[in-house]
Amino acid sequence: MKPGRAPSVSDCGPAAQREAGGKAKDGRRRGQSSFDVAVIGAGAAGMMTAAVAGRRGLRVVLIDHADKLAEKIRISGGGRCNFTNIGTTPAQFISRNPHFCRSALAGYGPRDFLDLVERHGIRWHEKHRGQLFCDESSERIIDMLRAECDDASVSWRMPCSVQAVEQAGGCFQLLTSSGGIEARRLVLATGGMAIPQLGATDFALRIARQFGLRIVEPRPALVPLIFDSGQWAPFAELSGVALEVGVSNVPGSGAAQVTAGEQGAVKGSGSGKRAGPGGRPARRGGKAGESTTAFLEDLLFTHRGLSGPAILQISTFWNPGEAIEIDLAPGTDIAAALTAAKSGSRQQVATALAALWPRRLAEQWLAQAGNGLAQARLADVADRRLQALAERIHHWRLMPTGTAGYRKAEVMRGGVDTDELDQRSMQAHKVEGLYFVGEAVDVTGWLGGYNFQWAWASAVACGQSLPA
Ligand code: FDA
Repeated sequence: MKPGRAPSVSDCGPAAQREAGGKAKDGRRRGQSSFDVAVIGAGAAGMMTAAVAGRRGLRVVLIDHADKLAEKIRISGGGRCNFTNIGTTPAQFISRNPHFCRSALAGYGPRDFLDLVERHGIRWHEKHRGQLFCDESSERIIDMLRAECDDASVSWRMPCSVQAVEQAGGCFQLLTSSGGIEARRLVLATGGMAIPQLGATDFALRIARQFGLRIVEPRPALVPLIFDSGQWAPFAELSGVALEVGVSNVPGSGAAQVTAGEQGAVKGSGSGKRAGPGGRPARRGGKAGESTTAFLEDLLFTHRGLSGPAILQISTFWNPGEAIEIDLAPGTDIAAALTAAKSGSRQQVATALAALWPRRLAEQWLAQAGNGLAQARLADVADRRLQALAERIHHWRLMPTGTAGYRKAEVMRGGVDTDELDQRSMQAHKVEGLYFVGEAVDVTGWLGGYNFQWAWASAVACGQSLPA
C-alpha cells in the first residue's frame, strides 16, 4: 500500500456521526477508512479523476487490484503511449449517443493534456495524423499521473481487490482486501475488458447492473479480424505482408452474399465508399455498424486473418455476420493502368500488379481471386476482363468469422449506457454519488490517441464536478 494521507473519521452522513460502538445501525463497521471520494481503477481515467478531485481539497482514495500501476498506459503506443490526438473532435467517437462526449471533450481537450505533459517536462512528437507520442517511454505518463495524485494527497490502496459495494446512509461501503472503505462518492474507472491477461475486468459493468443502470452490449474493438481457417489457408501464406488500403464496413451484408473464398466484388452491393484524405472516413455514423464507414490505413495479413491499423479501425464498426470491403489500390485507377500497360508489353498481369503491391501479394492474390489471370500475359487479356479484375481489386469483399477477441483487442466497445449518465459530471442520473469514467462508458474512440483523450476528458469532467 503506497503512503497517503491518514484516513479521517467517518463523515458520510448523520448515521455515521451518531455511530457509537460496535456496528452502526446500517451495518457499517467502526474504524473503517472514510473518504469523500473512492475511485476504483488506477488507470488513465482513475488517476486523472483522483488528481483533479484531490487538488480541489477532497479526500480521495484510489483503489486498484493490480500489482503494477497502469499497465495499459505502459504498453500503449508500442511503449511510447499515443497519449492524445491533436485533431480530436466528437466525430472520432462511437456511442449510442454520439453527442454525449461533446461536453467533456470541450471542457478538456488535447491541448490541455499537452500543457500538463509539457509542465512535467515530457518530450513528445507527432507521429502522423495528429497522433502525439512520448519521445522516450510511456512510463513518463504514468510517473506524471502518479506525481499529480501524490501532489493532490490521494491515498492509495494497491494491490487491493473490492469484494462488495453497497450504498447505505448516504455513503458507499466498500468491502476490500485492505479492509472497509466508505466514501460519499464512488467513481468507477476500471476500464473495459480488453487484455484480461493484464487484469482487465467487467467490474464497472457489474456495478452498473447492481445499481440498475443499462449497459450497451460490450464487444472487443480495435481488434484483428479472423476468417474461416479453410478459406483463409491460401492467404495465410501472405502473413507479414502489409500495404495501404481503403477499408469499409458493409452494414446489412449477409453471410449468404460472400465468403472469404469468393473474394470478389458482390454485384448490387451499393458499397465501395472510398476513404477520404488522411484516413478520415468518407462517411460515418455515430452509432457503430449502422452506416458505411471507410478508412485509408495500412493492412497487415496474418496467419488467421487481417490486422494492422486499417482492420483495427474498421473492427469497431463491424458487426458479426457482415462483410468488410477492401480497396487494394486506393487512389489508383487500376483498370486504366492495366489497359494502358497492355500495348507492346510482354509482361504478365502479376508483374504489372507487382509494381503496386509486394510481389508475394500480387502472385498469391491473383492465384486466388484473379479468375484465371494468374499466369496470363497482360497483352492477351481483353479490356473487359481487366476491368472486371480492377473491380475486384477495388472492392475485395470478405466475410470475417469473428474477431481475435478481448485478448488481442485494444479497447472494449459498448459499456455503461450514456443515457444513464450526466454528460457534464459522469454521474448516474438514478444513483446520486455514483460516477463512471473512461472506457467503462459507452464512448469508444478510433485508433490514434482518442481513447486516452476520452479517459482524460471524462475524468476531468468528473473530478471537477464532484461536490466538495
Ligand atoms: P484502464 O484500463 O487504463 O484502467 C483501468 C484500471 O482499473 C486498471 O488499472 C485495472 O487494473 C483496474 N481494474 C480493473 N478491474 C478492476 C477491479 N475489479 N478492481 C480494481 N481495479 C480494477 N489508447 C490510446 O488512446 N492510445 C494508445 O496508444 C493506446 N494503445 C493501446 C495499446 C493496447 C495494447 C491496449 C490494450 C490499449 C491501448 N489504448 C490506447 C487504449 C487505452 O489503453 C484505454 O482506452 C485506456 O487505458 C482506458 O482508460 P481507463 O482508465 O478507462 O482504463
